[in-house]
Amino acid sequence: MGHDLSQDAEIWDDAYKLDRAHVFHSWHAQRNLDPTEVVTGHGVWLKYGDGREMLDFTSQQVNVNIGYQHPKVIEGIKKQAELLCTVGPDYANLARGRAASLVARRAPEGFDKVFFTNAGADANENAMRAARLFTGRDKILSSYRCYHGNTGAAISATGDWRRKPNDYSRGHVHFFTPYLYRSEFSATTQEEECERALAHLEHVIQFEGPDTIAAVLLESVPGTAGIIIPPKDYFKGVREITKKYSILMITDEVMAGFGRTGFWFALDDYDYTPDIISFAKGCNSGYVPAGGVIMSDPVAHRFDDIVFPGGLTYSGHPLAMGAIVATQEAMEEEHIVDNAYTIGKDVLGPQLTALYDKHPKIGEVCGKGVFWAVEMVADRTTKEPLDDATMKQIVAEGDKRGLILGVHNNRIHVTPPCVISADEATQGVEILDQVLIAAGC
Ligand SMILES: Cc1ncc(COP(=O)(O)O)c(C=O)c1O
Repeated sequence: MGHDLSQDAEIWDDAYKLDRAHVFHSWHAQRNLDPTEVVTGHGVWLKYGDGREMLDFTSQQVNVNIGYQHPKVIEGIKKQAELLCTVGPDYANLARGRAASLVARRAPEGFDKVFFTNAGADANENAMRAARLFTGRDKILSSYRCYHGNTGAAISATGDWRRKPNDYSRGHVHFFTPYLYRSEFSATTQEEECERALAHLEHVIQFEGPDTIAAVLLESVPGTAGIIIPPKDYFKGVREITKKYSILMITDEVMAGFGRTGFWFALDDYDYTPDIISFAKGCNSGYVPAGGVIMSDPVAHRFDDIVFPGGLTYSGHPLAMGAIVATQEAMEEEHIVDNAYTIGKDVLGPQLTALYDKHPKIGEVCGKGVFWAVEMVADRTTKEPLDDATMKQIVAEGDKRGLILGVHNNRIHVTPPCVISADEATQGVEILDQVLIAAGC
């Protein structure tokens, strides 16, 4: 028997009750969930159901790069909705073509084709599919410190705990990428860490058998794994190794792309060119779900005369494309990527470093643009991670003071929208300072 709608009549205007009655949430045991109602937002501010205006230092899933309710993006979606809400992926459509062209022009020379997906996970699925078909090989090498999405191959490529209950895809091998603060290689400098991490990768490739490996898949800045900024020469080294063994290189820009690091793509701050780039989140700040794969010309041309066996009903959905076009244009017109760069260099960088000098339980501060991590430790000498209860308290103290904070294990991720002003960023760091005092850090 179907659900009796009259049961909902009494709670029809109550977001919280409807949620608890019918919404099944991701990544959680459901019973004790207590979701906060969000009504609307503007810029870096979210309005909660209880009327509070909250400063968002998370950008949600680190995707709202352009901030909430940007008028140009709303207008772009409205215009497209009035013209054509939906059309299948086989047709040519102006919004789709424009979106592809705007995304491709941010990639390095020789990346001209974009395959659109619904989000980041399926972008990585298709990036890996393209690499496997291109090379005729199976294995994908990826980092233990990474997240690539929650679908078949993407979750098997993921390194963290989320892989373990979902690991059904074959052909995935993990290795360690640089993280000097907790070095796997007993390194004491970034140069040593870089050199040893590259030697480790080459050994893994040799032991796995280079002719079994289709691609090395890496986030340009590991995001949910901790916002770990790779050493300057790391990707150049990976590129040399992958070229040596005719292995493709896939760069995952899903979280780090479109302004987050103060560059259009995070890879722009490194001196290398991959073969395939996956993207999502910041391409239209999640106003309508979208992601995709940008293919270098050799990869794209491989499928000139043979079928690419991948597709989605909503590949290049017009509303998502309208949102991409408007987002990309607004980001350019309003110099939003430059803003993210400057906020990182002049405000978040120095101010978070000042917090390090003041709070003994901060073990490390690292980041760039509007992509920062504050690692919390029980003791700076032992680097023992700060306990979960105190990390939860940090989030709660932030909430009390009007600041939305994101925490991953023992790292606080400071990832506000790229449009944040210097005053707003300072306000957020000042609250974070009070939060750390309240939490005894
Ligand atoms: C680097 C990276 N890749 C892929 C994904 C998956 O994207 P989505 O959740 O849009 O499928 C994420 C999501 O956080 C991510 O951070």
